[in-house]
Amino acid sequence: MCGIVGYVGPRQCVDLVVSGLKKLEYRGYDSAGVAVVGASGLEVARSKGKLANLVGVLKERPLHGTTGIGHTRWATHGRPSDENAHPHRYGGVAVVHNGIIENHLALRSSLQGRGHQFASETDTEIFAHLIAEALEDGKRNLVQAVRTALSQIQGTYAVAVISDRFPNEIVAAKNASPLVVGFGQGESFLASDVPAILEHTRDVVYLEEGELAHLTAQGISLEDRDGVPLDRPPRRIEWSAVAAEKEGHKHFMHKEIHEQPRALVDTVRGRTLLEEGDVALDGLELSADEAQRISRLVIVACGTSWHAGLCGRYMMETLARLPVEVELASEFRYRDPIVDERTLCLAISQSGETADTLAAVKEAKRRGARAVSICNVVGSAIPRECSGTLYTRAGPEIGVASTKAFTTQLACLFLLAVKLGRLRGTLSMEAARSHLSALRQLPAWMEQVVRQEPAVLPVAKRCAQARDVLFLGRGSQYPVALEGALKLKEISYIHAEGYAAGEMKHGPIALVDENLPVIVLATREPAYEKTLGNMEEVRARGGQVYAVVSEGDVHAASLAQVALTVPEAPPLLAPLLSILPLQFLAYHVADLKGTDVDQPRNLAKSVTVE
Ligand code: F6R
Repeated sequence: MCGIVGYVGPRQCVDLVVSGLKKLEYRGYDSAGVAVVGASGLEVARSKGKLANLVGVLKERPLHGTTGIGHTRWATHGRPSDENAHPHRYGGVAVVHNGIIENHLALRSSLQGRGHQFASETDTEIFAHLIAEALEDGKRNLVQAVRTALSQIQGTYAVAVISDRFPNEIVAAKNASPLVVGFGQGESFLASDVPAILEHTRDVVYLEEGELAHLTAQGISLEDRDGVPLDRPPRRIEWSAVAAEKEGHKHFMHKEIHEQPRALVDTVRGRTLLEEGDVALDGLELSADEAQRISRLVIVACGTSWHAGLCGRYMMETLARLPVEVELASEFRYRDPIVDERTLCLAISQSGETADTLAAVKEAKRRGARAVSICNVVGSAIPRECSGTLYTRAGPEIGVASTKAFTTQLACLFLLAVKLGRLRGTLSMEAARSHLSALRQLPAWMEQVVRQEPAVLPVAKRCAQARDVLFLGRGSQYPVALEGALKLKEISYIHAEGYAAGEMKHGPIALVDENLPVIVLATREPAYEKTLGNMEEVRARGGQVYAVVSEGDVHAASLAQVALTVPEAPPLLAPLLSILPLQFLAYHVADLKGTDVDQPRNLAKSVTVE
């Protein structure tokens, strides 16, 4: 995700840039840095860790300049470290970047072939090299040099560039990652998001895809992707600074639910090789030999990540025909589990710091297994303990209740299942292609579901009155029922149970009466008729049925008091859609009850104790 800030004008700008970064720390906080051009030329200060560390560095070695850029990082390539912190500089050019350069390996090796040496492991440093090279090659101005660099890049970016040859300018460009420019009196600003500059200006322009901005103290000129000048009047921001940080959402959790289509695009980007019917698992190398040699996969995780693991089991078993056990990390570590060198242990953790999951990984390794992970925080404890990690690129999750981390974990599990299927010979190239294209279709389907948020409100009103709520699902929707119940209980404090629909008759049916809302995941799946039967059973006992159903399924909808529809995705991917109405449901129930949605009582974002 990452946050960027820029300033050009008459003021000494380091403090201004750093205070802008402070407002963007919710976008990333594993390292930070600033670059300025002043009397001593181009100077850069960077530091691993939170912004406070950078402030310490600047106190010891202050920088001076009236043109500056800054960055707070959420790592996607290269571990958090001083060297990998932005800005990256080369040949008098400094760059900050938010996004992912897909062809960075190819670009890096061709630059190396031309004699360039790299100081970091990041994809971003390539930008600085390409721009410096373009200036060396005779590009007369910074805009042209940046355009030359961008023309070689595939991927996403919000980028801001300064150069000691053009001390009073910033050039910025956007493709998929957010970027806003702010108009001041004799000064100009830029940022990933308005809170960073709101103190100085409320007149802003949000850049659109492919657009480029040239900032000087005198003003800002904009161009489209073909270099054609744009005349777009600034828009006045009326939000308060606090609302702006949440991009106008009332809570971070709400913002993060809405971010899921974008997070999924980022997570999948560059990893699905459609033509080859294959997957590029950057960071988690698996050979065909290893994939065939392993006799089973043991997934270890806690809470929401454990629910993701349960969905992963369906994916691995179906696509890779691999026996899978999904273990609660807190149980696994204290058992005498059967694990050997033919076991692959997969830890799933949003934070990468969960003590039980970390201990389970160590235990699996002690018994001879190879351990790999799926994680959202680059360089955190669990990836450090594992020999490979596939990172979810969800960006920082601030709300304690996990939302976008969960759906991006599911996407990573699906990618891993397709890869294992190909390596183990259980999935044909054709079949892999069709699975991968369905995965690529998901963000658009998610957008559709997100737009239907208001449909959840009547169900939320009803559930907010209830003492207990039951969630039912079958197959890969069973873990979604568990996750829906967990979301509701953790932020609304209403007791909720998730159950496998077929198990209802073995106990929970005794709970059903007119006071019990029953939320049924009734999308079209292999055993879906059976789930419709469960809905009839609840209705026959006076229970209130609310359902998540596939679009156009009038029959399933007719069995529910309110039906929330989702597009019909292949069953293995259906959880990525059906969880969205349940996240909205939990959110709105909590909001109606007035609980502390982002920081529910007794819970913490990283559980680093046993
Ligand atoms: C619930 C939630 C928790 C976490 C669990 C594991 O919304 O977020 O259940 O999933 O504490 O945390 P990670 O994934 O960081 O290991």
